Amino acid sequence: MAVVKACKILITGANRGLGLEIVKQLSENSFPKQHIFATCRDPDGPKSEALRELVKKHPSAITIIRLDANDPSSVKESAKKVGSLLGNNGLNLLVNNAGIVANGTIQTTTVEDMKNTFNTNVIGPLLIIREYLPYLQMAAKASGTPGMSSNKAAVINISSVAGSMTRMPSIYKHFPTLPYGVSKAGFNMLTVLAAEEFKADEILCMALHPGWVKTELGGDDATLESKESVAGMLRVIANLTEMQHGGFLDYTGETVTW
Ligand SMILES: NC(=O)c1ccc[n+]([C@@H]2O[C@H](COP(=O)([O-])OP(=O)(O)OC[C@H]3O[C@@H](n4cnc5c(N)ncnc54)[C@H](OP(=O)(O)O)[C@@H]3O)[C@@H](O)[C@H]2O)c1
Repeated sequence: MAVVKACKILITGANRGLGLEIVKQLSENSFPKQHIFATCRDPDGPKSEALRELVKKHPSAITIIRLDANDPSSVKESAKKVGSLLGNNGLNLLVNNAGIVANGTIQTTTVEDMKNTFNTNVIGPLLIIREYLPYLQMAAKASGTPGMSSNKAAVINISSVAGSMTRMPSIYKHFPTLPYGVSKAGFNMLTVLAAEEFKADEILCMALHPGWVKTELGGDDATLESKESVAGMLRVIANLTEMQHGGFLDYTGETVTW
């Protein structure tokens, strides 16, 4: 079975939910050259306790870095810090996982909710991709191999079927999350356009839907445990090639229609 062999990996929103589980599963299978930059907005706060505990188990494999997707200066600072730790082979894998949900319909959605979801789910990832692009380009060049893969240089955007034009209408009645759906649709377009820009550099970029998962965001009624969703997503990530560049898959590897 293919496993993620990227050497330098960065994950946003790594202190809880799917992000924490990604760090956990990667660090359990980590090899000597692999290093995970687990980013979160409050590394010393109570919400990051589980991540700090995980670092105690794998101190040489994980570094916690402060990154608030809503704060451009924090994104810049994080890139500076990570850049100083990376070395000449750059960053192989960037996972844009941090995200927030907001409920609402045309009648009830507030301007605040639209702005907040757009800031965290679209503008944040845009700034993160931009700041880390030089390190991804470095990794793509350093690999010396043709084609695309998550071991070479890749951006994985953890999106949602809520951002799918074709899938969201039928689930909207049960999940009236208009601000979230609109922001994730924007995130999907960001993925497609980043993929277009990154073709020449051979940096793979795609969107991944984790399934409906029992986290704070997914809620208790969700059908999947984080463990299963993340194991599936890591399998998908490990098997990516240029065939999936600019695409949208779910945690089982099935294509999601835009
Ligand atoms: N769970 C599902 O069913 C499901 C389905 C489809 C897609 N997704 C997507 O999967 C991703 C992870 O979701 P999850 O279920 O793990 O949610 P979660 O348990 O609520 O975790 C969200 C993570 O994002 C972080 N975050 C929020 N705002 C941030 C900001 N401004 N800067 C940095 N980090 C921030 C949170 O950090 P704090 O602790 O600081 O708040 C937390 O680590 C999201 O993008 C979500 O849209 C989830």
